[in-house]
Amino acid sequence: MAILVTGGLGYIGSHTAVELLSEGRDIVVIDDLSNSSALAADRIREITGKSFPFIEARLQDEETLNKLFSDYDIEAVIHFAGSKAVGESVKNPIKYYDNNIGSSLSLCRAMLKAGCKNIIFSSSATVYGSNNPSPYREDMPAGGCTNPYGETKLIIEQLLGDIVKSNPGFNATLLRYFNPIGAHPSGLIGEDPRGIPNNLLPYIAKVAVGQLPCLGVFGNDYQTPDGTGVRDYIHVVDLAKGHTAALNNMDGLKIYNLGTGKGYSVLEVLKAFEKACGKALPYEIKPRREGDLDAYWSDPGKAERELGWRAQKTLYDMCLDTWRWQKANPKGYEG
Ligand code: WQD
Repeated sequence: MAILVTGGLGYIGSHTAVELLSEGRDIVVIDDLSNSSALAADRIREITGKSFPFIEARLQDEETLNKLFSDYDIEAVIHFAGSKAVGESVKNPIKYYDNNIGSSLSLCRAMLKAGCKNIIFSSSATVYGSNNPSPYREDMPAGGCTNPYGETKLIIEQLLGDIVKSNPGFNATLLRYFNPIGAHPSGLIGEDPRGIPNNLLPYIAKVAVGQLPCLGVFGNDYQTPDGTGVRDYIHVVDLAKGHTAALNNMDGLKIYNLGTGKGYSVLEVLKAFEKACGKALPYEIKPRREGDLDAYWSDPGKAERELGWRAQKTLYDMCLDTWRWQKANPKGYEG
């Protein structure tokens, strides 16, 4: 019996693959390499000393997918594959509806055909929209997303909810991630965005390694203690462990936040990173970024109560591990 990891060579997928293999599980990875590198597979093998099959394909390639389900005995799927750049999703919504929803439909069809009845889905705090007060709890109404990327996550959540209703014995766990950062402590795998990073930590890391001149801080007039945006940053290894905990507790439709429950501002993150890399980093206050909320963070209590999972690592750990990965791989996997 194996776990199928879609998007298993991407940022969160690769860290989850490591945790699964380290726990002694067999995995099969499918990834189209559209935003990942095949070298991540070698690194996962290097960290764990274990090997696994890797299939390079899109999920919409249903022939390959059906063959995969007949070649391997898949007990559960962890579904990471998808496009994730918020700004790009506003400019090119069709790509997002096609890649994210189209691929999830193909995957679910193949699962039902093969009789595979367990899926964990990589969802996002973005599904809480802009009207809920923090801390976000799973029983708050989802919706009101400000971009197509978020809408696709919400639609896939609904799709899985409907499949659970219509298929007795089908289990779907929706994991709503807050802001994953950090890297494996080995420095062998980490986040490797293509081009100029959109997200805060990869941007800071590239300033620290000298590839970008200065961090732009998007707004310092928010209703937060220092005026900069506040988010719930979570170490990607803690996040990965949330998936293995969820795998052991599947039962119908379940929804869990994966966050730390603590918010940090952009300037607090910058200071923690400066401490981790041992140097001051230049920054400049810029206008607010369209669509950004001032502050949000999770209530992670449900995952702790029901899954026995809780994030362990500090913001400093997250920065130290990001820095170790960035220093050792200044140009990412291909560099
Ligand atoms: C964090 C904070 C910015 C960059 C997005 C998606 C979410 C999830 C993760 C993933 C904000 C500020 C950022 C910069 C800055 N999606 N910032 N300068 O926007 O919270 O979440 O990514 O796949 O669904 O919405 O993350 O890292 O972009 O921003 O000042 O150069 O850092 O304004 O306050 P965000 P982020």
